[in-house]
Amino acid sequence: MTVPILEGRGLRFGHDPARPVLDGADVAFPAGRRVAVLGPNGGGKTTLFRLLAGALVPQAGRVLLDGEPVGPRRRGLTALRRAVQLVLQDPDDQLFSATVAQDVSFGPVNLGLPDDVVRARVAGALAALGVADLADRPVHRLSFGQRKRVTIAGAVAMAPRLLVLDEPTAGLDPAGVEALLEVLAALHAAGTTAVLSTHDVDLAWRWADDVAVVADRRVTAGPAAALLGDAALLAAAGLGPAWAPSVHRLLVRAGVSAYPRTAAELAAVVVSDATGADARDGVGGGTVESGTQTSAPHGASEETSCPTRS
Ligand SMILES: Nc1ncnc2c1ncn2[C@@H]1O[C@H](COP(=O)(O)OP(=O)(O)OP(=O)(O)O)[C@@H](O)[C@H]1O
Ligand SMILES: [Mg+2]
Repeated sequence: MTVPILEGRGLRFGHDPARPVLDGADVAFPAGRRVAVLGPNGGGKTTLFRLLAGALVPQAGRVLLDGEPVGPRRRGLTALRRAVQLVLQDPDDQLFSATVAQDVSFGPVNLGLPDDVVRARVAGALAALGVADLADRPVHRLSFGQRKRVTIAGAVAMAPRLLVLDEPTAGLDPAGVEALLEVLAALHAAGTTAVLSTHDVDLAWRWADDVAVVADRRVTAGPAAALLGDAALLAAAGLGPAWAPSVHRLLVRAGVSAYPRTAAELAAVVVSDATGADARDGVGGGTVESGTQTSAPHGASEETSCPTRS
């Protein structure tokens, strides 16, 4: 088995050590796997990310980078921070330079990269996040969503192997969410692994290969299709069921074993059922999965795996 880029084993941490937020938490982020981290408010997602990024020190357990334990010493932390970029939930915890361009260039400059490389990285990251026109603006005069995009641009400019995004879509408008997913797809294609936390199970369904649910001080991780279809697990974590598995279950109850993933696919199932066609044979140009499908069709293309868009 390949060694994950980043791993937490048996992590224990409490801001008040007598009341741990995490205790015995295991999580792994393998290269190339898109992992969505879900959980209730206060469940420990941010705490987990901060432990994994070296911003907090676990009270038990260990963090491993490429299979090697990350020690408290400077060298281990430097390697961790080069490989892993954490984008904080609140952009105001991260932005501190006067202008957007200065903020995004801070990390690459600190890496000691040549000026032309810094300029190219900054321009690329600002363009990718759709904030190139804000380059000279003071960061404190940006909207929340704009500040959020700038913090992500700052992490992207560092060209990390693993990008950890704490609730990156919270506060973004729908176009901003789509743009972010496009950025993540481009980064994925270029070999960057991304992990994100969210309360949006449909976003997780659409985007993630694997899901990690942080609740009751532990992490329950597994393939997105299995975990996002587990209503009891999601309810225990204060989450509702994802759209596509719910619709699939209701259709099965009605005798139709289709697995529509988009509004168009659902419409095709409904129409074919009303006109007497057999949905089990697939409708809508073969976009509906066959009746033998028992788990969600993950690994499908970005477009067809979207449960709510047509
Ligand atoms: N700096 C801090 N000092 C004391 N307690 C904290 C601190 N940060 C977080 N906590 C507590 O730790 C627990 C876990 O918080 P955390 O921020 O990790 O949750 P979360 O899953 O990220 O929640 P959310 O979905 O609201 O972002 C909460 O009970 C929270 O109140
Ligand atoms: Mg949080």
